[in-house]
Amino acid sequence: MQAKALPGFREFYPEDMVFRSHIFATWRAVAARYAFEEYDGPPLEPLDLYTDKSGEEIVGQLYNFRDKGDREVALRPEMTPTLARMVGARAQALRKPIRWFSIPQLFRYERQQRGRLREHFQLNMDIVGEAGPLADAELIAAALDILRAFGLGPREVQVRVSDRRVVRALLLGSGVSADQLNLAFAVIDKSEREAQGALADQLARAGVTKRATDAVFEVAGLRGLFAILQALQSLPDGETIGEPLRKVHDALEAMGLAQFVQVDLTIVRGLAYYTGIVFELFDTARSLRAICGGGRYDHLLQQIAGIDLPCVGFGMGDVVLGELLRTRALERAVSRRLEVFLVAVSAEDEQLVLRLGHALRDRGVALEYALRSGSVRRQLELAAARGAPRAVILGPDERASGLAVVRDLRTGTESRVPLTDLEEGRLS
Ligand code: HAM
Repeated sequence: MQAKALPGFREFYPEDMVFRSHIFATWRAVAARYAFEEYDGPPLEPLDLYTDKSGEEIVGQLYNFRDKGDREVALRPEMTPTLARMVGARAQALRKPIRWFSIPQLFRYERQQRGRLREHFQLNMDIVGEAGPLADAELIAAALDILRAFGLGPREVQVRVSDRRVVRALLLGSGVSADQLNLAFAVIDKSEREAQGALADQLARAGVTKRATDAVFEVAGLRGLFAILQALQSLPDGETIGEPLRKVHDALEAMGLAQFVQVDLTIVRGLAYYTGIVFELFDTARSLRAICGGGRYDHLLQQIAGIDLPCVGFGMGDVVLGELLRTRALERAVSRRLEVFLVAVSAEDEQLVLRLGHALRDRGVALEYALRSGSVRRQLELAAARGAPRAVILGPDERASGLAVVRDLRTGTESRVPLTDLEEGRLS
């Protein structure tokens, strides 16, 4: 029996790599436009980096074990705690705000389903050291610009933005007690997917009053910035609490991205460390899980590195994004294409093929030649199978005349090109 890859782990054949590289290249290009610097960390981390800070959901999915040195370790399920530690260790020396990105491979023991695997690559972009809402807006804009760079528009993708501070204030203001908040957040999170009756029962069992229960569903039902700001007006400091959300919204509008934005308090996010603005990007058909999720987490650096620096960031996985690009036939991925195939007419011509081939590669030309002697016909068949646009045929006549035959493999037309020109990279 042949050994198979583990469930939820992918093998990347060359055609898959082309697609993956296309995604990474687009991520890097947009990150560069936003002047983010790339970093990386260890794929294996101490277990307790996650157990306290990431929240139950991720902790339940950890790939953890005891290593040979008796350390409790885990494959990284997310990048944010590593980032917090790395920034914390050099916080004094780094010029704030820090704008860093990374493309780690992450591991979560998830129930495998469409868009969810046990490993994925995730672009992380984070700004550390800036508490103002323009930092939040900057990251939401970067995430949207990535999707725009893949050719997706507001009809295909939307970002849903919320602010945990706003939800918290509205809930507390309507009679939910501080110790019921977590449950109320969980109910809001599920309010679109599960029946209201069952969720109301959960709240009642936890002692949430009827009035507060109604308020939880009202908060979940608020749509659009205007409705939310109006609801906040009933609170004494409501205007101040609504300010960051309003500013993020206005900044995205100023950037011309308003068509992509929905303000919607049902975005809660599973991770425990978020403290303020949170957001998720979705395909508008809602056939897939979130493409990207993130938000503000102002206390994680304090917890991990004992340093008080505000942070905001997001993670965008390659799996959901890949599904979306595939279903929309937007795989414009192109590999570095073969430019020319060198053909040796006889074994005596192989030296020339090697010399010319190497000279051309030094000049950056992508080329291939057969790695064993064979008929010209077989070499040309291989050239065609590889998709080479042209073949250079080198035989005794060509060596004698100093002129090689360059055949256009699409039209079949031939021309003669001096070997000296070829050596300098002039192929026609
Ligand atoms: P997250 O929501 O857990 O956030 O993951 C972000 C994105 O990664 C998801 O929206 C999804 O596209 C992708 N993703 C997550 N798990 C899987 C999986 N099992 N299979 C495929 N794709 C997956 C975080 O991880 C935060 N640390 C992001 C962040 C960075 N927040 C601030 N900075």
